[in-house]
Amino acid sequence: MNKTLIFSAVITGVLLSSCAQNTVKPVTVKPAATIQSIMVSVIDPNIDFVWNSIATINTAQGTEERRPKTDKDWNEVKQHALAVLEGSKQLLLEDIKAAAPNANTSSHPVELSAADIEKTINSHRADYVQRVENLQSALQQTIAAIDAKNVDELEKAGGIVDQACEQCHAQFWYPNDKRPK
Ligand code: HEC
Repeated sequence: MNKTLIFSAVITGVLLSSCAQNTVKPVTVKPAATIQSIMVSVIDPNIDFVWNSIATINTAQGTEERRPKTDKDWNEVKQHALAVLEGSKQLLLEDIKAAAPNANTSSHPVELSAADIEKTINSHRADYVQRVENLQSALQQTIAAIDAKNVDELEKAGGIVDQACEQCHAQFWYPNDKRPK
């Protein structure tokens, strides 16, 4: 072995052993919730706060154009948008269930049962992941608009989020819904 080889062998050994010392057991995140409970408890209420931050409200006293105005308003909208983004990550956990045992996911005849939702997700996993990623990029756009304090962009991004919700529901929750969209 020439000197360079010995040197690099030593360096590699040092690197490998320092890696080994720093090896941390990979974290496995087990789903703490079902798709349904994430929808009901995290995604829906938090995105409603974001959507409702822009509204035109007609009352007897006149028209109120509701907008985030102060820094505190914008911060609050951002907290809710981030909660949706963080919640959406749970949707990607491998063994997440559609719903708790006995929970009803089909209050309308076109809506699938939890077992059928899971079957559809398992057989179209790549589509499902893509739907989650579409939601996440719409949320990133929402957060960028919030950071820029840009009401028009926030409204636009809110519409894109809405489409991302609808596209996943149409494929995985009520694929048999044949009403014109
Ligand atoms: C990647 C797929 C996916 C995306 C994206 C998604 N959802 Fe869902 N959602 C589901 C599935 C599957 C169900 C059906 C299971 C169930 O009943 O909860 C559902 C159900 C729901 C329900 C009904 C919960 C119940 O049973 O009472 C609400 C409300 C909801 N979603 C809101 C939203 C909103 C708002 C968004 C967008 C911000 C969204 N979802 C985005 C997959 C998704």
